[in-house]
Amino acid sequence: MPVAVVVGTQWGDEGKAKVIDLLARANEYVVRYQGGHNAGHTVVVGDQRYALQLVPSGVLYEHVTPVIGNGVVVDMPTLFAEIDELERRGVSCSRLKVSSLAQLIFPWHQAHDQISETARGDNKIGTTLKGIGPAYADKALRIGIRAGEVRNAERFVVTLRKRANEEQSLLTAIGGPTLDVESIVNLFTGLAARLAPYICDTVSLLHNAREGGANILLEGAQATFLDLDHGTYPYVTSSNPTAGGACAGSGIGPRHIDRVIGIAKAYTTRVGSGPFPTELTDATGEAIVDIGHEYGTVTGRRRRPGWLDLVMLRHAVRLNSLTELALTKLDVLDSFDVVRLCVGYTTNGKPLDRYPDDIDLLGTVQPVYIDMPGWKQPLRDIRKFEDLPETARNVVLRIEREIGVPVRIVGVGPERDDCVVRA
Ligand code: GDP
Ligand code: IMO
Ligand code: MG
Repeated sequence: MPVAVVVGTQWGDEGKAKVIDLLARANEYVVRYQGGHNAGHTVVVGDQRYALQLVPSGVLYEHVTPVIGNGVVVDMPTLFAEIDELERRGVSCSRLKVSSLAQLIFPWHQAHDQISETARGDNKIGTTLKGIGPAYADKALRIGIRAGEVRNAERFVVTLRKRANEEQSLLTAIGGPTLDVESIVNLFTGLAARLAPYICDTVSLLHNAREGGANILLEGAQATFLDLDHGTYPYVTSSNPTAGGACAGSGIGPRHIDRVIGIAKAYTTRVGSGPFPTELTDATGEAIVDIGHEYGTVTGRRRRPGWLDLVMLRHAVRLNSLTELALTKLDVLDSFDVVRLCVGYTTNGKPLDRYPDDIDLLGTVQPVYIDMPGWKQPLRDIRKFEDLPETARNVVLRIEREIGVPVRIVGVGPERDDCVVRA
């Protein structure tokens, strides 16, 4: 299967990085296709925990070329802090490629993110304040600076100073912070010189690799219900994490995508604001947060917990053309007497036959649950599907039946090998 996409099916943090790390063993390229350092992708190898924001999760393998694709927005200070930290820990980043077509993030993007969140008051999105939305807005306005521009240092400094001065005037006019234009120019011209050797025509690189028989993994950040088009707008991110975004954000066309692997937690979490039909605000929710360590990798914020929502997952199957699902963190439910699955929604007492295209409606639907008995034993050491307790197998089989795609991987712990992989 030469090209596979890994996509989150909920509101992020499903354990995408762990599954990518598992699959990367059989791949030569791992490519981030959208988002930026709003992502927090965790891989646990023995006593080492790697929390990656921009560097693709395949970096831990020497046979993998990690690629930051054209659809990503790149914050250079974060990228180099991450590279320095990885190299300090003995992980070489010399193979990393950054698309010449990717967009760069600058301090004014973060300033705008903060200003618009403050202006929204009680309706704030709860963004990561990393400047992601404003950077994509500049891309759409065609005033963004692309990573490839660092290849021409003289022109880059002119463009950078011009944009910084324009943004300074704009921020002053709207009562925003004062930018220290010369410090920004100095810092970012230095970073640009450092970025230059990583810049690559990644579109040609990936096509040539694919034609030469290489296996390529496209690593989604965020998730289906944070998608700018298909998520719970406006409580979404500013890119397209759904599988279609993998084509646009890598330059690989849809006919060459062979496999689309959706990642879902065995329950649901969400960071930031927005509707969440199966949200739990009781002791069960607290237990999920405590046992699952549901705190953001990037911002440290507590994630909102809830039961697994199969209405969302069915919609994610359609939106992404999922060929299969990886169900992560099943072990977090080890101590539960009952595992609940949301299999439908009702509105005004009547069943709803589709995923609502209106967040006000989504905010008022009533989940329809089925209760399945828990297994009340640790799953962590189990490696074969047949060895899972029957009650746990039944949960997995019921999920498959409800969503119509096979569950090929079941996560039973945070470490690299804590997985049940089905044939
Ligand atoms: P991502 O953004 O989708 O890559 O996910 P994050 O890394 O933000 O969050 C997932 C968290 O769950 C990380 O701390 C992982 O180490 C952890 N994790 C992943 N899979 C499993 C699993 O099957 N069981 C348990 N207990 N933890 C897991
Ligand atoms: P990974 O890749 C979970 C959320 C933010 C906020 C909304 C918009 O680790 O799954 P943004 O800064 O993107 O403009 O914020 O999206 N968000 C995430 N939630 N996991 C992520 O990434 C997220 N990236 C953004 O909390 O609600
Ligand atoms: Mg995450």
